[in-house]
Amino acid sequence: MNFTLSEEQMMIRDAARDFAQNELKPGVIERDSAQSYPTEQVKAMGELGFLGVNVAEEYGGVGLDAVSYVLIMEELSKVDNSCSVIVSAHNSLCLWGIEKYGTEEQKQKYLPRLASGELIGAFCLSEPEAGSDATSQRTIAEDKGDHYLVNGTKNWITNGKKAGVYIVIAQTDPEKKHRGINALIVEAAWEGVSTGVKEDKLGIRSSDTSSVMFQDVKVPKENRIGADGFGFKLAMKTLDGGRIGIAAQALGIAAGAYELALAYSHERKAFGKAINQHQAIAFKLADMALKVETARMLVYRAAWMKDQGLDYAQAAAMAKVYASEAAMWISVEAVQVHGGYGFVQEYHVERLMRDAKITQIYEGTSEIQRIVISRNIIKNDMTYLPWGE
Ligand code: CAA
Repeated sequence: MNFTLSEEQMMIRDAARDFAQNELKPGVIERDSAQSYPTEQVKAMGELGFLGVNVAEEYGGVGLDAVSYVLIMEELSKVDNSCSVIVSAHNSLCLWGIEKYGTEEQKQKYLPRLASGELIGAFCLSEPEAGSDATSQRTIAEDKGDHYLVNGTKNWITNGKKAGVYIVIAQTDPEKKHRGINALIVEAAWEGVSTGVKEDKLGIRSSDTSSVMFQDVKVPKENRIGADGFGFKLAMKTLDGGRIGIAAQALGIAAGAYELALAYSHERKAFGKAINQHQAIAFKLADMALKVETARMLVYRAAWMKDQGLDYAQAAAMAKVYASEAAMWISVEAVQVHGGYGFVQEYHVERLMRDAKITQIYEGTSEIQRIVISRNIIKNDMTYLPWGE
């Protein structure tokens, strides 16, 4: 068993850390307050390769492994979760599906511009009345021979207004239920595509979340990903990987809040000594460190399993549910360690606490992750959890 990162992985982690601390941290509070989209930062992330992390070099990406991807997500998320969710939705939810299941033509046409950041990608699954219950799609992709006619509304779409390309999940044959669902590549510029207002959110406030509407949008058949009826499976497989990205985001929030609390606990004095010399604070720090390390093991392991070509659906669900709950708990306690200072923007922990909440909700709530885990352990009668099998 080997718990060390490779030289290359450490270099990537350090580059992401430098970028986050030097380029994202200045201005993150102001962007969050004003809900202003991080245009310059997204451009810089494109130049660094963060918008084509796992895409093969022949399609314009940097071709890194899943472990490197989670290292990047972790470092960005210690500081700016609006930026990291843009990276996660773009890479995991849009580019991955095109590269894994797209035709050669689709890959040539879309991936280079997406991987460079010239175009931003989004994934349209959730609807006003279909969130956790993802098979209940009301968006229709009517089969018109050489094209689909798409009508419907998608909700809570990360990168909704900024995306140039959407993967849209829509129902073609309702009688077949989830087996009648298709996944289509739709360009934002096409006639009939429009977006709603930017949502005013508790956290990840400068990221762009909106509804996306499709009215009589003509989508050529060659833009369907995979065989007819493969759309729901593609969505589920996409989310398996997306959950590793969000688990890494939650890990970054947890680690970032812990690091801030630890640093503050050395500086702040009370009753004649540093507050970390009081057991009440020291034990909080111990519990934070314990949860960060446990989350890190689950997240890195899920990414490693993906790199090994193993089935990672359950590992991803475990990593997401644990890391997001750790992020929530640690960020609340980090505010507590900071006392009154934790309650104001300047000290960063209140923003991490607000950002933590969404990691328990998007790309499958904690309750959905428990459905995925429980179904798997019961179906396979898992009396032990194997490592790497
Ligand atoms: N991989 C491949 N196939 C899968 C799969 C997986 N991980 N999980 C399920 N499937 C297949 C099943 O095999 C089944 O297919 P067959 O009948 O052909 O065998 C089909 O999908 C339906 O599966 P279920 O019967 O298990 O379906 P269900 O209705 O019980 O739902 C669920 C399963 C896990 C609860 C699923 O609906 C789910 O994951 N829901 C949550 C959706 C979600 O995460 N939404 C977040 C939206 S993305 C987002 O947040 C936006 C953003 O921009 C950040």
